[in-house]
Amino acid sequence: MDLYEYQAKELFKSHDVPILPGIVITEADQAVDAANTLNADLLVVKAQVKTGGRGKAGGVKLARSGDEAREHASKILGMDIKGHTVNTVMITAGCDIAEEYYFSILLDRANRQHLAMCSREGGMDIETLAKERPEALARVPLDAQRGIDEDVARDILTQAGFEGDTLEKIVPVLVKLWDTYHGEDATLVEVNPLVLTPEGDVIALDGKVTLDDNARFRHAEHEQFIDTAAEDPREAMAKAAGLNYVRLQGEVGIIGNGAGLVMSTLDVVALAGEEYGVKPANFLDIGGGASADVMAKGLDVILGDEQVRAVFVNVFGGITACDQVAQGIVEALSILGDNATKPLVVRLDGNRVDEGREILQQASHPLVHMAHTMDGAARMVAQLAAGVEPDPEDTSDPAAPLA
Ligand SMILES: Nc1ncnc2c1ncn2[C@@H]1O[C@H](COP(=O)(O)OP(=O)(O)O)[C@@H](O)[C@H]1O
Ligand SMILES: [Mg+2]
Repeated sequence: MDLYEYQAKELFKSHDVPILPGIVITEADQAVDAANTLNADLLVVKAQVKTGGRGKAGGVKLARSGDEAREHASKILGMDIKGHTVNTVMITAGCDIAEEYYFSILLDRANRQHLAMCSREGGMDIETLAKERPEALARVPLDAQRGIDEDVARDILTQAGFEGDTLEKIVPVLVKLWDTYHGEDATLVEVNPLVLTPEGDVIALDGKVTLDDNARFRHAEHEQFIDTAAEDPREAMAKAAGLNYVRLQGEVGIIGNGAGLVMSTLDVVALAGEEYGVKPANFLDIGGGASADVMAKGLDVILGDEQVRAVFVNVFGGITACDQVAQGIVEALSILGDNATKPLVVRLDGNRVDEGREILQQASHPLVHMAHTMDGAARMVAQLAAGVEPDPEDTSDPAAPLA
């Protein structure tokens, strides 16, 4: 889970990383009160969106008074930054900047290690710096047990070209940023810029934190960071129904039982879809003992997705036999009634397959097409999603058509 800057800074604060105070608002009129509370000479109005480059996009503005802050806030609220709408802004105290640095800790999956990155040239886009002047960015692999203690911090800073007093001033900040990374189970902690003020203070002016969702059970206090408003509504609906669902960009809805089967279904649909210009619309695993109720919930999530034009139900009967699944599909369609408006290609195989197919044939629902093989079904559903009438002479599904 990615955090907003203001959330990242709450975590920084709890680990004693130096930040400037800020107040989050959702309406421009709240800016004046916020400014009064902060009581700072310099204010900064900052768009809260989960993307970088806010400054360049006009989402970070300096203000000298509450009124000026309100004017900036009214322009920034509602702004679109790289496809993210700004719904909240942070009014924060500003500071003068002598130098801007870059520091991050991240989980480097490719090399299976934690990695610290540090540069004297902060403020700018780090990807650009890494590409154009890689020598200006120190990359220091971390020992997972040791993390960043004072000596490790000195080593990182020396490699980045720091020395003297400045280096010593930054040392404790890096140690605290490691405390944040480690203590919060983060996979990314990034500060760009980490600044040195003319008075010699080191402050984290920006913050980006990604928390490891697999560690959420250890952090009940992180629940507050979950952003239900920004969550995909279909994913939220699926989660509430206890379904294992991931929304993708295509047109072919997919339901199967078992993660492996669903993954391979995505593959065959992607392949068959190439010819027709369609792709899988989602991953949905209804799991082992899929009841009619679970099937109905799954179909409801998928059929309500406006990008979906046809659905592939791919079930391998095991403990839950094909006839139970077929019964589930029939009941699900009757539960959904008029909400079921898109063609369904059903491929059943495994335990009690003949009985299952018989049930579907008896029901002869106008939207249900039956297929025998996975490849045949993938081709059929790709055609239906593309608005192409499946060819009755098609021999790619050897036993089709059944219905
Ligand atoms: N509190 C602040 N005081 C002074 N300058 C700031 C403050 N916050 C941000 N800035 C300036 O604005 C720039 C962009 O802000 P930042 O928070 O890094 O947003 P982004 O990385 O999304 O562009 C910073 O590099 C810094 O120069
Ligand atoms: Mg930044």
